Amino acid sequence: MSWERSGTDYWRQSSELIFQHHKLEKGLCLPRTSRRFFGQVAAENTVSLMKEWRQCGLDVTAPVYRAAEGVLRSYRAAIIAMPGRETVQKRLLNEIDGLVSDEIDIAYRTPLIPPKVPDGAYATLLALSQSRRSTRDFASRPVDLTLLERAATVAQLSPSACNRQPWHLHLYDDPEAIKAMLALQNGNSGFGHTVPLLAVITSDMASFFDSSERMQPVLDGGLFLMTLLLALEAQGLATCCLNWCVDPATDKKGHRIGAIPEQEKILTFLAIGYREEGATSPLSARRPIEDVIRHH
Ligand SMILES: Cc1cc2nc3c(=O)[nH]c(=O)nc-3n(C[C@H](O)[C@H](O)[C@H](O)COP(=O)(O)O)c2cc1C
Repeated sequence: MSWERSGTDYWRQSSELIFQHHKLEKGLCLPRTSRRFFGQVAAENTVSLMKEWRQCGLDVTAPVYRAAEGVLRSYRAAIIAMPGRETVQKRLLNEIDGLVSDEIDIAYRTPLIPPKVPDGAYATLLALSQSRRSTRDFASRPVDLTLLERAATVAQLSPSACNRQPWHLHLYDDPEAIKAMLALQNGNSGFGHTVPLLAVITSDMASFFDSSERMQPVLDGGLFLMTLLLALEAQGLATCCLNWCVDPATDKKGHRIGAIPEQEKILTFLAIGYREEGATSPLSARRPIEDVIRHH
């Protein structure tokens, strides 16, 4: 978990750039009463990371870079309206103008007013959560990978620390590959052979800057996973999370067999497919809400 700076590394550079420009983006959304000159260091860091991006020859049309441009444009407009730090303001305006054009694609305009919650959203979410039950008996029908892309599009909207989105979704649909991967995992006996599509959810450790962030890889990945489960369920696909509670040697094997880079931490396997006709799921009774909420 460290951002040692050497050479071109898209994942590290994009994470760092998001981390910095997101500070500015957040500052633009504070209550008006809190407005004061803000963001000098984050703006300087954003500018220098964007210069580094260009020097390294990374793609300046990449969404992460375009998003940074969008943030700097809005930040520019905001600091013009913030008096009191003329020298800093002038320097930042020059830097921003030298780097970012006036033309910002609508897709990268920030901040925004989020769309309204649709009517009936709670009832729909409750019903979806009730129908999503871990499935351990899959039909042999193959899964169209475009459904996975659609699910990942929803899961991509999950929150993450400083918006770094550290997750990756590895997919395996070759039966031999699935068999080899599942042989490393102890929670699929009796049904692993019915799994038509296996996913591995990972968190990229190059997204984080030091061990103070040690909870984030798992937490962010878990949020992505939960949204993914519901988005798959919403398209008629059943799932079963498969724990990755393995020793280091098995973890290494999982990386090797699954062709997963070492910098990615494997969080969980996920069986995906269509529920076999008449397949049942355990009740998995939930604790009462009184066990959950502690009102202080
Ligand atoms: C991280 C994680 C790992 C899990 N690992 C396994 C597993 O290895 N095998 C299995 O059959 N179920 C596994 N499960 C499924 C749980 O048993 C199941 O989610 C829980 O009992 C609640 O039931 P539900 O998913 O049907 O609501 C796992 C669930 C999670 C979240």
